[in-house]
Amino acid sequence: MKKIPLTPAQVAAIRKLCPDSMVARTVLGEDDPRLEHLKKEPGDLTSDPRVRLQQVVSELLGYVETMAAELDEFPEGPDQERLRSEAVGILLAVREIYRAIPDLGEAETISSPTLIEMAQAFTRGRALLAAARLGVGDAMTAGLATAPEIAAACKADADAVLRLLRYLATFGVVVENPPDEFVLTSLGRGLESKSPDSKWAGVVFWADLLADNWSHLTECIRTGRNAAEVIKAAGGESRWSTDPEAPAIFRAVMGTAPPEAYGPIAAAFDFAGCRVVADLGGGGGALLLEILHRHPALRGILVDRPESIERAKPRFKEDAASARCELVSADLQESVPPGADIYILKHVLHGYSDEGIRAILGNVRGVIPPDGRVLVIEFVLPSQFTRVDPQIERRAMSDLNMLVNTGGRERTAVEWNEVLGSAGFKMEQVLPVEGDAVSVVVATPD
Ligand SMILES: C[S@@+](CC[C@H](N)C(=O)[O-])C[C@H]1O[C@@H](n2cnc3c(N)ncnc32)[C@H](O)[C@@H]1O
Repeated sequence: MKKIPLTPAQVAAIRKLCPDSMVARTVLGEDDPRLEHLKKEPGDLTSDPRVRLQQVVSELLGYVETMAAELDEFPEGPDQERLRSEAVGILLAVREIYRAIPDLGEAETISSPTLIEMAQAFTRGRALLAAARLGVGDAMTAGLATAPEIAAACKADADAVLRLLRYLATFGVVVENPPDEFVLTSLGRGLESKSPDSKWAGVVFWADLLADNWSHLTECIRTGRNAAEVIKAAGGESRWSTDPEAPAIFRAVMGTAPPEAYGPIAAAFDFAGCRVVADLGGGGGALLLEILHRHPALRGILVDRPESIERAKPRFKEDAASARCELVSADLQESVPPGADIYILKHVLHGYSDEGIRAILGNVRGVIPPDGRVLVIEFVLPSQFTRVDPQIERRAMSDLNMLVNTGGRERTAVEWNEVLGSAGFKMEQVLPVEGDAVSVVVATPD
């Protein structure tokens, strides 16, 4: 990106007005690791740098609007002057962006989805699900390339498979070359069910099991209840309860990514001086393994329900760090094992009501040493939703996902402070995680 020339005053104005804004960092010419992540997703429209810049401009102009609204709250004099000069600084930045990229105005119309396109977004998920459920990825990995061959292997209709493959090709999952022959792209190879970095379970988890519950969102919003309750009240049954594979699919996606994928989370907190880390509800244990890999003197305890612990065992057997790690089955609402000075809960508490959280944290409170720390790793919601931002969208989506699927919720830092306080902990800080929408809420026994 062409560097936008800014005066020190403009930089200061932007930093002051938008201290933790991704778009402000872009204007300031600072690298934002989150943009790297976006670039890796070929289908992501926001990887278009012009769209990113369009968001920069929208956000900056949004700030100017807010400042204009606030202007009358200040008496005439230095405060108003300061506000006006900060606004001018921002407008100068906007002008420079437009000078650097003259056709920027077109980016929004080219790439921003319309409401109807947003409403159609479920179709990609459904197409991926059909491919996953039918075994299209496995058939193609075995070398089958034409629609009739793939359809025969998947016991499906050849014409319909051809139409599915064509749609998958339009968003980069397969590619047709030569004519009538399709191959998986590097993205599409995740549809293979057996490969070590398979995304098969994740696709089925989201596009089938969770999507089925999301189809009841309207009633969940109307009643404030989760989908299981809504479906039960209507006398129906959810995919969760009718699909015999559902529990295995859930365990296959929880904490099972390669440990390196958890590097930024493991790096967000300083484990120097810590002795034993317990990952409560740690699923497959990937985060704990990554932390142990980084800190050879640390010991670990992986705690989860018995089925999850059983599934984690083979992976731990293969990893040298498992010599420093204990695997413990427990229901966290009943008990938490003693012996650690750091207790991690990642994407566990968001599935619970405040009462449920107090039950779990109460058990942690009973065993944690006075100098211990609890690390709650969750999508912390901002206190205000003022802009379009994919990272914040991810958090707000997770909040609705919790409403629909668990009856839990995502929380703001203020809400975490309250619930931690009511469970006997003091919130110390909220640490950002580089390139990730989660934060690490650090608390100590009060
Ligand atoms: C959404 S998954 C998160 C897994 C992992 N921490 C991660 O972030 O990838 C929630 C995990 O918490 C575990 N869990 C939730 N409630 C629990 C409880 N009461 N006792 C033990 N484990 C629990 C689940 O079995 C599951 O593995």
